[in-house]
Amino acid sequence: MAENIKLNIPDKDEYKVTDTINVTKPDIPEIEDYIKYLKEIWKNEWLTNDGEFLRLFEIKLKEHLKLRNVIVVSNGTLAIHMALKALNIKGDVITTPFTFSATTNALIWEGLNPVFADIDSETFNIYPSDVEKKITDETSAILAVHVYGNPCYVEELQEISIENDIKLIYDSAHSFGVEYKKKSVLNYGDISTLSFHATKVFNTVEGGAITAQDEKILEKLKLLRNHGIKSEEEVLLPGTNAKMNEFQAAMGLCNIKIIEDKLKQRKELYDHYKENLASFDNIKFQKLIASKYNYSYMPVCFENIKVRDKIYSELIKDNIYSRKYFYPLTVNYDYFKQRGQNLVQKYDLKVASDISDRVLCLPLYPDLGENVVDKITNRIKELMSN
Ligand SMILES: Cc1ncc(COP(=O)(O)O)c(C=O)c1O
Repeated sequence: MAENIKLNIPDKDEYKVTDTINVTKPDIPEIEDYIKYLKEIWKNEWLTNDGEFLRLFEIKLKEHLKLRNVIVVSNGTLAIHMALKALNIKGDVITTPFTFSATTNALIWEGLNPVFADIDSETFNIYPSDVEKKITDETSAILAVHVYGNPCYVEELQEISIENDIKLIYDSAHSFGVEYKKKSVLNYGDISTLSFHATKVFNTVEGGAITAQDEKILEKLKLLRNHGIKSEEEVLLPGTNAKMNEFQAAMGLCNIKIIEDKLKQRKELYDHYKENLASFDNIKFQKLIASKYNYSYMPVCFENIKVRDKIYSELIKDNIYSRKYFYPLTVNYDYFKQRGQNLVQKYDLKVASDISDRVLCLPLYPDLGENVVDKITNRIKELMSN
């Protein structure tokens, strides 16, 4: 009986989850629903390696996201590594510095040379004409990010990739359920990768997925996911272990049933934030170009870094934790600086630097409540008028 189970969690403050309002909160399904899947896992005695729930989850995901194909993996970072490997990317890759560390780190870990392009001041995504300017004979791919789920200028990037015969990969970690011109944004580019990390709009605790234009590339990705193993006696590629286990897949199967309601709740809160802050000329919002958006983040840009940092610190005093996504730019990471490189100057990243200094992602998750949004925006208004 559950009530008789002693978990022996020490009763100390350091183990407690406090009463804070964090920038996000994971969506968790009804426990009874998850338990039904757990019972099946216990019955099957099959925990990982191409399990029943993994297969079912891939079918459901493909249907839900209207994709040509999809495989699920253990996280969104490995998904990027696998995309780079599957497309045999070499040399220089043009990418954005306005992203989470995983995008840039993956390039470096794969022995590639990131070449940074500036971003658009309105959509916060990589700027196609700057991408074009930075292409050389060494360039083999573009690794773009749909920042906060907002689609990149996908048509322009597609044209650039075809004209220059280079691959186009989208780190779509934030883009679950997003459509551009009524089509899943994941259907653009050679490969798109997703993250199902607990902080994302759709989660499998940890997890991710990959979709590819070309079925042959998808077969290669399947091999890469499981050590390159084709059969008991055939290992075709030096792959890795990127398998999603049955517990993660079960979480995905539960969460996919509730995701549309969660996205509706997010939209209402997003609109409420915008309404509350609309009267401030010196607060700017991201220009959304999606035909269907997922409202995964609530980014706002303040006048300058001083105002942004003041709001960030003052909100913490009220136990409200916003996040400076994405500050610093990845080009300002210590590992670049230690090499004595000033990449902001080298690649002329004026817009990315400016947005990174001014942006703040405010708390946004489905059950945040409009009253909490009011509390946050009232406090911001107070702070801005002081
Ligand atoms: C833009 C971006 N790319 C990649 C990742 C990596 O995903 P994961 O945490 O699932 O490895 C994340 C998120 O965490 C992200 O925000």
